[in-house]
Amino acid sequence: MNIYENDQDHLPKITESELSDEQVLEELQAIRKELGDKLVVLGHHYQQDDIVSFADHTGDSLQLAREAAKLDSEYIVFCGVHFMAETADMLSKPNQKVILPDMNAGCTMADMANRVEIDRAWKNIQASTDEKIIPITYINCSALLKDFVGANDGAICTSSNAKKVIQWALDNGERLLFFPDQHLGRNTCFDLGIPLEDMIVYNPNLKHGGVTPEQIKNAKVILWYGYCSVHQGFTTAQVEQIKKDDPDTTVIVHPECSFEVVQAADMDGSTSFIINTVKNAPAGSKWAVGTEINLVNRLAQMFPDKKITSLSPYQCLCATMYRVRPRWLLESFRSIKRGEPINVISVDEDVKKNSLKALERMLKIS
Ligand code: 13P
Ligand code: SF4
Repeated sequence: MNIYENDQDHLPKITESELSDEQVLEELQAIRKELGDKLVVLGHHYQQDDIVSFADHTGDSLQLAREAAKLDSEYIVFCGVHFMAETADMLSKPNQKVILPDMNAGCTMADMANRVEIDRAWKNIQASTDEKIIPITYINCSALLKDFVGANDGAICTSSNAKKVIQWALDNGERLLFFPDQHLGRNTCFDLGIPLEDMIVYNPNLKHGGVTPEQIKNAKVILWYGYCSVHQGFTTAQVEQIKKDDPDTTVIVHPECSFEVVQAADMDGSTSFIINTVKNAPAGSKWAVGTEINLVNRLAQMFPDKKITSLSPYQCLCATMYRVRPRWLLESFRSIKRGEPINVISVDEDVKKNSLKALERMLKIS
């Protein structure tokens, strides 16, 4: 599928020799003011500070999806990654346009499951058991996978409502197929009382998913092999080191971290959960945070009365989120001003129908 809407999307980028970083920010402010309520800027918590400063609303995936569904502006400029902008397009009104400032801002985890692989796996899995399987997809996936779950009576979840959505699925079927993030699936199912032995990992790169028909028949939960390379960077050794250096430090991580890291940590939850927990903690408290570095650094700036560090000594940066630069945001703003918007995300109507069914189910459950 060609992700570019029109030729404007290929316009040359604004270079540094044309505009300095300061000039970019100045022009962004000026155009933002000029365009007024013609546009709303949504920004995910992992965006860089300069981008967040232009966001009318910041949030986690669920909050931003809810926000997109409420807006009336002609344009929604989505500072986040591709699947988030697609979701916003599906939930927005037909006359609204959703713009992603950099079309290459994808999600490496979302790319770990495609429709052909899911269709093939579904066939394989159904051939191994007669019991009812409910497909659940993490919102970090393409619209085609959302369409799949909608068409097969499944639902979508985010990291902040995964427990509720999975519980709904367990109440409505015998088994679950969860994709693309094995970690969120495993961590949440374990919290809901499903033992690890009842979960298997399906790897589409291996013959028959790397599992036998017998294993599929006996599994309560089939987890897709996908993962987030940013969150997979956190390790139990890092948790042990933090606890050794200062046992009073609370370790809080995102549920995209591995099972072992989540078990070793003191708390886990979505980006909004992490922000609210740290925000409401007493002054002087100490935190080691296992999530994307832009958010961790922002937390440290926002709450200087608390000691906030990254769980990892390495810079766990989401390189695709970081692709949204002020310069590219300016190009989006300029294009709206000229009335020739670039980087418009538009999901096909026939894909939207079932995807919306699954999204609306998620919003109702959570
Ligand atoms: P949240 O829904 O917690 O913001 O997570 C989105 C995401 O992509 C985390 O890597
Ligand atoms: Fe995707 Fe991971 Fe980046 Fe989140 S942090 S957008 S899951 S690659």
